[in-house]
Amino acid sequence: MAVTTEPTGTTADTPPEEARDPASLGSAMRVRIPGSDVSVGPVGYLAEERQRLESLTWDNFDVQRCSATIGAELSGIDITGELADEEVADIAKALADYKVIFFRDQPLSARQHVDFARRFGELEIHPFIPSNTGVPELVRFAKSADVGGYENGWHHDVTWRETPSKGAVLHALEVPATGGDTVFSDAYAALDALDDDLRGRIDDLVAVHDFAKVFGHGMSAEERATMREKYPLVEHPVITTHDITGRDLLYVNRFFVSHIAGMDPDASTELIDELCKPFALLEHQARFRWEPDSVAFWDNRAVQHYACSDYWPDVRVMERASIIGSRPSRAR
Ligand code: SIN
Repeated sequence: MAVTTEPTGTTADTPPEEARDPASLGSAMRVRIPGSDVSVGPVGYLAEERQRLESLTWDNFDVQRCSATIGAELSGIDITGELADEEVADIAKALADYKVIFFRDQPLSARQHVDFARRFGELEIHPFIPSNTGVPELVRFAKSADVGGYENGWHHDVTWRETPSKGAVLHALEVPATGGDTVFSDAYAALDALDDDLRGRIDDLVAVHDFAKVFGHGMSAEERATMREKYPLVEHPVITTHDITGRDLLYVNRFFVSHIAGMDPDASTELIDELCKPFALLEHQARFRWEPDSVAFWDNRAVQHYACSDYWPDVRVMERASIIGSRPSRAR
């Protein structure tokens, strides 16, 4: 199908004026395909951030960007050893700017992995996912013919905590020859994608987050009650403000948000579905192809991630260290 690239013109192949959807993805040049909820055309609200990122320069590493507003591969820096404070500060800045950063050929031992992650804050211990037995701060995802990969859904990690992690460092130990990519999606762009009406409607809403949606499966009622006492339902604003960048982002994910506080259940489910849609937009995403000893470091507020589970029955072994964050809040 051909569509016009002109903001106001129409052609024989262009949807009629009434089908245009200028508000819905933040760009007057986007058009909706009649009879569907599919919009096509330039995602204009990415331009400012994309240009800002283009102007950045770095002293301590080289940067190869992955996508318009998200993802960058850093090279020329060795994270297995002791890093100078200024290198750590630069990595933290790159993380805030690119939202997820990648390194290649970093044969981290378990100890080096936690030492690196600890330079960015105190590490959490995950109560539900098995750890590397020698290092409790390292969650281990060991998948094989017998153990499926169930991380193929969009999520921020541990939003059921009062203080969800602010970032995570994931190291690939063994990866399949094909498949097993991880995809990251920009939560600032997801917010920018909403039309004014929807954005206005969610301005003061809070979402309720529940560990049991994912981790409650297979638990006895007794176990669930014990864990519920330790991890009660928590509320976080649907729009939160990133404490480093000061930018607002969309903070709703399907894994852990059970409902929107104070809303009728059907309306709440419908709204959550609507708010999760922009994370699926390809223009908001960066996709990372793993090699052994690749490392991804994501900002767990600024992105959601999705680990593709397309490699069964092969083996994929990853370890993750997560850095404790602060309570998500909204600055006005
Ligand atoms: C996760 O969801 O934190 C794991 C990501 C991955 O295994 O790629």
